[in-house]
Amino acid sequence: MQNANDPDLRSRHLGITEPSPWVRRFAPLITPGDDNEGDKGGAVLDLAAGGGRHGRYLLGLGFSVVLVDRDIAPLADLTGEPRAEIIEADLETGASVFAPGGPLAGRTFAGIVVVNYLHRALMEDILAALAPGGVLIYETFASGNERFQRPRNPDHLLKCGELLDLLGGRLQIVAYEHGLDETAEIPGVKQRICAVNDLGISDRDCAEPAPHPVAPGD
Ligand SMILES: C[S@@+](CC[C@H](N)C(=O)[O-])C[C@H]1O[C@@H](n2cnc3c(N)ncnc32)[C@H](O)[C@@H]1O
Repeated sequence: MQNANDPDLRSRHLGITEPSPWVRRFAPLITPGDDNEGDKGGAVLDLAAGGGRHGRYLLGLGFSVVLVDRDIAPLADLTGEPRAEIIEADLETGASVFAPGGPLAGRTFAGIVVVNYLHRALMEDILAALAPGGVLIYETFASGNERFQRPRNPDHLLKCGELLDLLGGRLQIVAYEHGLDETAEIPGVKQRICAVNDLGISDRDCAEPAPHPVAPGD
């Protein structure tokens, strides 16, 4: 069965070099901070990076970027770029890349971007890898897409409210949507979220975190 992670969809993605408008919109919320990566402090993780359109965009914004995919051939031109770390890894087979001994073990990120990829078993690891104040920008195909086109495999379609349910009470939800987007680079039913790991980080008596701009990017 075809799915969001399938080779056909991947090849379509490799032809798309523009970053998603959702990523462009919310990338400015990411602020490089201290983490445990030494001179890569505040790096942004582009998980299932494909051709790296989002990692490349973030590099252009001045971030250090870690790009992970099982096929890193389309990222070869970034070899030698000092702010780009390319990791070849299968995200679905064997131990998690975030588990001890894995290439991302113990690492945290100022931002994590996941677009058009879903492997539910990774979600808790993704959340744990967000640094305090870190920004999660997630966008992929969702329930309802099966009526129109691939992907149709429910394993690769977010359920209604799934990211809200997962992140609610754990991250500050800045923006969320779920619906048919016929103007997207690959049209379909998409679920998108931007959320910040700053619940509990507050200088206010009410303990509420500071609000973030909801339209910071273009
Ligand atoms: C639809 S593409 C999206 C690429 C990129 N995020 C974008 O928006 O342009 C999905 C990506 O997930 C990667 N992928 C699929 N299954 C994977 C796995 N088990 N481990 C690592 N990467 C995988 C594919 O190689 C592909 O690059």
